[in-house]
Amino acid sequence: MKQKKGKTRAGPLARTNPGAGTGKRVRIAPSILSADFAHLAEEVRRVEEGGAALLHVDIMDGHFAPNLTIGPPVVEALRRVTSLPLDVHLMIEEPDRYIPVFVEAGAAMVSVHCEACPHLHRTLHLIRSLGTQAGAAVNPSTAVSLLEPVLDDTDFILLMSVNPGFGGQKFIPSTLDKAKALRKLLRARKRSIPIEMDGGLGEANVRDAVKAGVSIVVAGSSVFGAPDPAEAVRRLRAEAQRK
Ligand code: DX5
Ligand code: ZN
Repeated sequence: MKQKKGKTRAGPLARTNPGAGTGKRVRIAPSILSADFAHLAEEVRRVEEGGAALLHVDIMDGHFAPNLTIGPPVVEALRRVTSLPLDVHLMIEEPDRYIPVFVEAGAAMVSVHCEACPHLHRTLHLIRSLGTQAGAAVNPSTAVSLLEPVLDDTDFILLMSVNPGFGGQKFIPSTLDKAKALRKLLRARKRSIPIEMDGGLGEANVRDAVKAGVSIVVAGSSVFGAPDPAEAVRRLRAEAQRK
């Protein structure tokens, strides 16, 4: 298959990770929400050392999610200290207003919540049009069947396994069945895109998530709350890839 050079839709992710988009290899995406914000560059260096594949960045607006976090300047600062693809998770209302500025700041992947997007198809295509991977995110109480109409318009799907808002919450086990249901939907459509799971994941349950079809594992407190975040990423990876 011929491929154009330069910035393609799959560009930023594919360059760093040849397995991108296949949904086969498990990638660990530490969430910097649980990092020490006073030493962000150092924290990033630690998870790079452990073999993190992506850096998950949680953006909350105090409306869609009951918390306020960070904005484009921090994404831009992260971009300068790492070559890891930045996986920007927008838990905000009216994300279309801010997508261009987050892409400009250096996002390689942008996910938006279907609960916050009345025109999800349009929003996903806006992200793609800017040369960035588009992700559709769903809350624990939202059925994955809602995503069926946009499966061809999304480059990955983010299943929340806690309610958006905070790091360190308890994993909601029913979300494993959603991952299985989504995997079935994707297979039926012959669509091979990664399923990302976010919230309450650690060494104890990462294997269950992978078995259910998850190939991007977001981990905040289990990585940055550990005494040695590099080692925590290594252990998560080993556990996730265990046969
Ligand atoms: C929650 C965020 C998550 C969170 C994950 O709203 O989207 O990315 O940082 O943190 P842990 O792994 O601690 O649940
Ligand atoms: Zn997140």
